[in-house]
Amino acid sequence: MEKKKFYITTPIYYPSGKWHIGTCYTTIICDALARYHRMRGEEVFYLTGTDEHGQKIQKVAEAAGMPVKAYIDDIVGQLRKLWDLLDISFDKFIRTTDDYHERAVQKIFDRLYRQGDIYKSEYEGWYCAPCEAFWTDTQLKDGKCPDCGREVKRTKEESYFFRLSKYCDRLIDLIENHPDFLQPATRQNEMLNNFLRPGLQDLCVSRTSFDWGIRVPFDPKHVVYVWVDALTNYITALGYGSDDQSLFDKFWPADLHMIGKEIVRFHSIIWPALLMALDLPLPKQVYGHGWLLFDNDKMSKSKGNVVDPFVLCERYGVDALRYYMLREISFGQDGSYTNASFLSRINSDLANDLGNLVSRVTAMVEKYFDATIPSPATQGAPDDELIAACVSMPFEVDACMDKLLVPEAMEQIWKVVQRANKYIDETAPWALAKTEEGMARLQTVLYNLCEAIRYIAVELQPFLTKTPPQIFAKIGVTDAALQTFDSLARFGALPAGTRVDKGEALFARIDIPKELAAMDAIIEEQICQAAQKQEKEHMEHENVVSIAQIGIEEFEKVELKIGRVVACEKVAKADKLLCSRIDLGEEQPRTIVSGIAKWYTPEEMIGKQVVVVTNLKPVKLRGIESQGMVLCASDADGNLSLISPIAPMAAGSEVR
Ligand code: MSP
Repeated sequence: MEKKKFYITTPIYYPSGKWHIGTCYTTIICDALARYHRMRGEEVFYLTGTDEHGQKIQKVAEAAGMPVKAYIDDIVGQLRKLWDLLDISFDKFIRTTDDYHERAVQKIFDRLYRQGDIYKSEYEGWYCAPCEAFWTDTQLKDGKCPDCGREVKRTKEESYFFRLSKYCDRLIDLIENHPDFLQPATRQNEMLNNFLRPGLQDLCVSRTSFDWGIRVPFDPKHVVYVWVDALTNYITALGYGSDDQSLFDKFWPADLHMIGKEIVRFHSIIWPALLMALDLPLPKQVYGHGWLLFDNDKMSKSKGNVVDPFVLCERYGVDALRYYMLREISFGQDGSYTNASFLSRINSDLANDLGNLVSRVTAMVEKYFDATIPSPATQGAPDDELIAACVSMPFEVDACMDKLLVPEAMEQIWKVVQRANKYIDETAPWALAKTEEGMARLQTVLYNLCEAIRYIAVELQPFLTKTPPQIFAKIGVTDAALQTFDSLARFGALPAGTRVDKGEALFARIDIPKELAAMDAIIEEQICQAAQKQEKEHMEHENVVSIAQIGIEEFEKVELKIGRVVACEKVAKADKLLCSRIDLGEEQPRTIVSGIAKWYTPEEMIGKQVVVVTNLKPVKLRGIESQGMVLCASDADGNLSLISPIAPMAAGSEVR
C-alpha cells in the first residue's frame, strides 16, 4: 500500500541574526509534528529555510561593508547551527538565493505575465528617498516616513502588478466554505473582514528602487517583490519549475503551512491567489499560531527582552526547551514565556514526575532483582488501571495531534507518568520486598512499571529528542522494534530478563531562586545594552553625535539641565538599575532609569545634583518609562562617576 504523505513547512526565516526562543517556536512545533507523522509510518517532507532578498538585508550588508551574499551566508550558518542544536529534523533547507529557486521564480513570473495575470503599470505612493521605500497613505506616520520620520514625496514608479483583485471572490469562497484551509478559525474572520470583504487591489510585484532580488526575466531593471519570491519557496523546494518535478508531484499540495499570526495575510490571500493563477492545488491548511511573549511583552532584540535559545539549551538542555514550548503554550494563542514558569516546569514535570519515575523504578529493579527486569507473575487491581492508561494513551495522543492540540497530546503522556507514580505509591514495592509472597507480586509491579516507562518513552520521541534514547538505555530497550508506535499495540512486549541501568538522573533539579537570579542578570544585561544601543542610534540619527566635529547648532539641539534627585530606588529584579525621581524645576519630578546601581546606592543618590539630558525620546526599561538620561563620566576601566555642578544650582538650570 502506498504510504500516506505529509508535507509540512515553516515560514522561511529572514537572515536577521535576531533569533530568540519566539523564533524557534514554529520550527519546534513543526519538528514535533514531522517526527510524529514519520513515526506513524507516513512519508514526511519537512521544509524550512531562509528568505534572503530585499532592500533591508542589502542595506545592512552594505553598512557592514560586505557583499550581500557573503554577509548572509554567515548568518544562515548561525541559523542552521541553531536548528542543529534544537534537533530540527527538516528534510530540506531552502535558500531563496539558491539557483534552482531563482530560476523557478523567474519562470513563474514569466508565465503569469504571458497569461495576463501580471501586467505593467505605474505604482504611485509616498517615496522616502533616504530609505528608498514607498509607503501608502495609511502607512505614513504623521505624514512622514514610518521608518525614519523624514519627509516623503508623492512619486510614481513603473511596476508590474499581479491581478489579485481578480481572485477576491474565489478567496472569499475558499475561506468561507473550506474552514480547514485557515486555522485557527478566528483568523478567518480577520481575513474576511479586514481584507477580503472590503475588496482587494492588485498587488505591486516588482521593484526598481533596489537590486538585491530575483530579476524579472524580461525586464531586468525590476526585481520580483520579496513576498512573491518567498511564498513560492513552498513549491520550488519540491522542484516545481525545474527539470525534476518528482518531489512536487509526490508531495504537493502541502498538508500544513505553519506560520505566525502576523503573516497569515500573505499565506491565506496572496499565496492561494498565486496558486490559483498557476492552476495548482491549494495547501490543505494554513495554521497561524500565536506569539510567544516575554513577560507578556513582544520579544525584540531592540528591547533587549529576548531569551536566547543557545543560553537556555546550554544551561538546561534541549529537551527542557522543547518540552516547555510544546507543553506550556496553548497552541494558536499568544503565550507568555517567563523564566519562572520555564524553571518550574523543568522541576515539576521533568525532574520530579518523569525523572523520578525512571530513577525510582530502575533503582528498585537494581536493588530487588539484581538489575534484571523480572517476569510478571500475578496481576492485581491497580495493574488494570495502569495498563489501561498505557494502552489508551496512543489513541488519545493521536486524537490530539490530529487536531494540532500539541500541549494536550503531551498532557496525555504525563497522565500516564502520573498514573505510574501513583501505582508505585499504591503498590508500595518497598513493603512487598519484605516477604517472599510480596516478592512474587513485586515482580509484576516492577515489570508493569518498566513497560509503562517504555510506553512513555516511545510516545515521547516526537517531542523530546535526547530523553527517549536515554530512557531506552536505562531500561535496556535496544531493539528498535520496541521503540515504534506499533510496538504499543500490546502491553507486555517488553521482554523480561533485560538489564536496567539507573545511571544519572534524566533531569537535574534546579535551584530555582539561584537560577532565576542568574537568568534575570542575563536579561538585565541585554536590556541595558539594548537601551544604550537605542540611545546611541537615536543620537546618531538626530545627528547629535557625529564622528567628525559638530557645529554649535548641532550641540544646541541637546537640552541639558541641572536636576536634584528627590527619590530613588532599585529597579525590581534588575541589579544594575536605579530608578530616580528628579526635580528639574518642572511641574512634576521626572522618572529616570540609569544603569548606575553598581556605583551608587539609592540612599546616596537622594539629594544629589545631577546633569540630565532632558530632550531625549523616552525609552521603556523594565516596564518603566525613563524620561531622560543622567550624565556620568566613565573611564577606560569602566568606572563611573556622576557629573554634578561644583556649586549648588537651582533645579532646572540650563547647562551650556
Ligand atoms: N520571511 C518571513 C516569512 C516568509 S514565508 C514565505 C518571516 N520571517 S521571520 O523570520 O520574521 O519569522 C519567521 C517565523 O518566526 C514566523 O512564523 C514568525 O511568526 C515566527 N516568530 C518570530 N517571533 C515570534 C515569537 N515571538 N513567537 C512566535 N513566533 C514568532 O516572517
